[in-house]
Amino acid sequence: MFKKDFPIFKNNPWLVFLDNAASTQKPQYVIDGVSDFIASSYANIHRGLYSLSEKSEAAYHRSKELVGELLNCKTSEVIYTYNSTYAINLIAQSLVISDVLQAWDTVLLGIREHHSNVLPWQVLAERRGFKIEFFNITEEYEIDRNDFDQKYNDKVKVVSVAQVSNVTGKIYDVKKIKSKLREDTFFMVDGSQSVANFPVDVQDIGCDCLIFTGHKMMAYTGIGVAYLKKEWLKKLVPMIRWGWTIEDVDMQWHTLIGNSDKFEAGTPNIIWAVSLLKALEYIKSIWGMKKIREHEQKLVKLCVEGFSKFKDKVEILWPLTTERVAVFSFLLSNTSNFNSIGERFSEDNIAVRCGGHCAYPLHKRFKKSGTCRMSGYIYNDESDIAKFFETLAKIA
Ligand code: ALA
Repeated sequence: MFKKDFPIFKNNPWLVFLDNAASTQKPQYVIDGVSDFIASSYANIHRGLYSLSEKSEAAYHRSKELVGELLNCKTSEVIYTYNSTYAINLIAQSLVISDVLQAWDTVLLGIREHHSNVLPWQVLAERRGFKIEFFNITEEYEIDRNDFDQKYNDKVKVVSVAQVSNVTGKIYDVKKIKSKLREDTFFMVDGSQSVANFPVDVQDIGCDCLIFTGHKMMAYTGIGVAYLKKEWLKKLVPMIRWGWTIEDVDMQWHTLIGNSDKFEAGTPNIIWAVSLLKALEYIKSIWGMKKIREHEQKLVKLCVEGFSKFKDKVEILWPLTTERVAVFSFLLSNTSNFNSIGERFSEDNIAVRCGGHCAYPLHKRFKKSGTCRMSGYIYNDESDIAKFFETLAKIA
């Protein structure tokens, strides 16, 4: 139904694109919207008093307004970055240079985190001296409550977790995690695999920060988002500084402005921000995130039925339940060579991702070196899923 909106499928009629957890395709509406903006309204923002600059700034601001609507937060709490990884690095560094995170503190992460929620902390821990702990997950991929309770001691200053695993597609109850935390714990949610797939409400979760990226929800690459709660916007200072972030500058000192702009160093990524605006307008035009969730649940159901027929031949990372986004990582019992499985899918024009999916600790926890991952989105239909299972049958 939605496939016709995406020119990639006209230009590649045989393509079965099932690598959406890595990045999504772009609708014509976004491509045209960005081109029109560049052709008719583009100029640098925050500086010009001329109408073109004001037009450009209005589009940038509108983009943030729609992000505010999407997450249920204020426009002023939206920080634009370049991707999720950049957003996590930005916030982690800010916590350190603002002296919120000190040498005697601990950062608590899940063992299932994407590397982009591990490495930024490791780099800073090496220099600052704070400790990183990981809470485990059970054989059923649930949060190991006893382990969490044991690791969440008085020293934990930051808890940072993904709402959805990029490997298993499992949705975690981040609101429940928040309910276990002390008021002074900074709670960050990695929404890279959730915001693109279902409605997410930061007020309901109660998090201090939530990050996501535009390219996984039909915007261009190069636009990431950090929602940062108002109190923290005031408290934290950014690592990188530039002209617009200041109130005043002298030769030996400068004073910073107090809003989210202080985190957006240099000329902001205006064009990509407009691509996110266009993607969010497109999502509204197809009845919003609820529709995406609804469509994905149909895909999930088809996949659960499809994989159930291969019980003896295919191992799925996470039980075959429907409480997930449309992401399935799997291995075949007749080969541990996940790359060769991916190549075989590619021969049939089916795009899946193979490897450790930037989540090595999770794979090590389950004694795997990698898996194949298929992931669906709004434009995938029954015939895509049928073709996937036809090829899986041939390989198995
Ligand atoms: N983080 C993206 C993925 O999981 C690239 O595939």
